[in-house]
Amino acid sequence: MIKVGIIGCGRIAQRRHAPEYASNKAVQIAGYFDGLQNKARELAAIYGGTAYSSLDEMLSNPEIDAVSVCVANNAHAITTIKALEAGKHVLCEKPMATNSEDAKAMVEAAQKSGKLLMIGQNQRYNTGHVRAKELIEQGLIGKPLTFKTTFGHSGPEFWVSEDGNVNSDIWFFDKRIASMGAMADLGIHKTDLIQYLLGSKITEVSAKIMTLDKKTSQGDPIDLEDNAICIYKLANGVVGTLTCSWTYYGEEDNSTVIFGTKGIMRLYDNSPHTIQIRTSRGDKIFYDLDTMMTNENQLQSGVIKEFVRAITTGDRTNEAGDYEVNAIRAIEAAFEASAQDRTVKL
Ligand SMILES: NC(=O)c1ccc[n+]([C@@H]2O[C@H](COP(=O)([O-])OP(=O)(O)OC[C@H]3O[C@@H](n4cnc5c(N)ncnc54)[C@H](O)[C@@H]3O)[C@@H](O)[C@H]2O)c1
Repeated sequence: MIKVGIIGCGRIAQRRHAPEYASNKAVQIAGYFDGLQNKARELAAIYGGTAYSSLDEMLSNPEIDAVSVCVANNAHAITTIKALEAGKHVLCEKPMATNSEDAKAMVEAAQKSGKLLMIGQNQRYNTGHVRAKELIEQGLIGKPLTFKTTFGHSGPEFWVSEDGNVNSDIWFFDKRIASMGAMADLGIHKTDLIQYLLGSKITEVSAKIMTLDKKTSQGDPIDLEDNAICIYKLANGVVGTLTCSWTYYGEEDNSTVIFGTKGIMRLYDNSPHTIQIRTSRGDKIFYDLDTMMTNENQLQSGVIKEFVRAITTGDRTNEAGDYEVNAIRAIEAAFEASAQDRTVKL
């Protein structure tokens, strides 16, 4: 039995980490910590375990084997490193860190401690994405040449709201805490996914990063981006666009399309089919697997199950390393590219 602790007891902990650990027979949730103590107590009341009043106290409990880091973006690196140094396996929510130096330091801390570090890049575990990777590797659409990958919804104010009342006084709109806007919230998912699907790292980035619509409660534009459009070139020569947006009002877009020498593969492209393939010979191939999880429709993320499996079996296939650090570096490079109106090589 693995004993886990949850650090940061807000939306993602409430909606994914706590229920998914609770439904995993190999796990017992032993403790919770949040800067707002009532949040920790609320989860303890539902799932059992101790609500700690300090992080150090929780991390010094030798019975806790692993922790989920579900705090706001600016505290991911510091909390993760502290937990690794305390000898805990860590599942850290995305974005791994707010800059690539911190991301590297996290990987180094994991290597030094010998503990597992995984990042909450749950899109990799969607059944459709797992199958798509296999089909690409089998050559179904030939050699991938270009792609477009998109993640857009109406904004984090709808996700964070606990009572249905939506307002702009949220940390996702506060640069000091969130560090980045739509790129940290959504862009990192697809940046990680495209490297994973194509088995290659991003090497060049150009980008346009913008604040088009979101306002503070005072009515001023937020000082973080609500839209970003990037061009990524990968080491294997594939080139494509990443679009992330907090201004897709009406319908979420969480799709990826890969264009290869022998056909086109559409993933989660607002169609009844998880994967749609159109080959250059005119064949249509459909795979009906899972649907994409949305803010309103939370499904098993797969990442918690994988974290537990990796700890239990010692399989480190999905531990954070070069790819995860490179994804953060690509996001960082997109900001440099947009600000300086140039292409940035990683
Ligand atoms: N994988 C996904 O798809 C996904 C979805 C949503 C959020 N997230 C990530 O999860 C993280 C948390 O997001 P959320 O939506 O749960 O936000 P939230 O505001 O609902 O919850 C964050 C919680 O952490 C606590 N907290 C913040 N900083 C802390 C610190 N330094 N020490 C102790 N407690 C602290 C807050 O009090 C709050 O209860 C974010 O980094 C976000 O990017 C991931």
